Amino acid sequence: MLNEKVAALLNDQVNKEFYSAYLYLDFSNYFEARGLDGFANWYKIQAQEERDHAMLFYQYLHNNCAKVTLGTITKPDKVLDSDMTVLKAGLEHEMYVTDLINNIYAAAHEVKDFRTMQFLDWFVKEQGEEETNASDLISKMELFGSDPKGLYMLNSELSGRVYSAPSLTL
Ligand code: FEO
Repeated sequence: MLNEKVAALLNDQVNKEFYSAYLYLDFSNYFEARGLDGFANWYKIQAQEERDHAMLFYQYLHNNCAKVTLGTITKPDKVLDSDMTVLKAGLEHEMYVTDLINNIYAAAHEVKDFRTMQFLDWFVKEQGEEETNASDLISKMELFGSDPKGLYMLNSELSGRVYSAPSLTL
């Protein structure tokens, strides 16, 4: 049986990950409208990954006989008025998600829930990668984004991103 507080935080994370998917779909939506299909592709795949994360939390709860309650997914509310605003909002969001994961980890640690800590280890690593990806994107945009040819090249690079299922399976 999962500790009540740990289970509640894991359940909340299902919702938070679906919100992340929705937020990144909004980012993709922004770039579709800009005509930057590579950026749109990058964020669409990011949205798919977030849905995978949500499903991992969902399945982990079920595997541990916990009840899952699905809540309302909040409307993405970031004002997306420039390419850089989107990229920076992405990094800010990932840092927020890292805090959420750390918070669940701390709650699991407090009650010696080593199984949940082990489950979360994958997410701790994943958050490190996601923060790096988001900040790399900002650096590249700072270097090349103001030049149309540079932006075109960056867009082409991002169009090459392909979806791959998470390495964690339950
Ligand atoms: Fe599911 Fe981008 O963290």
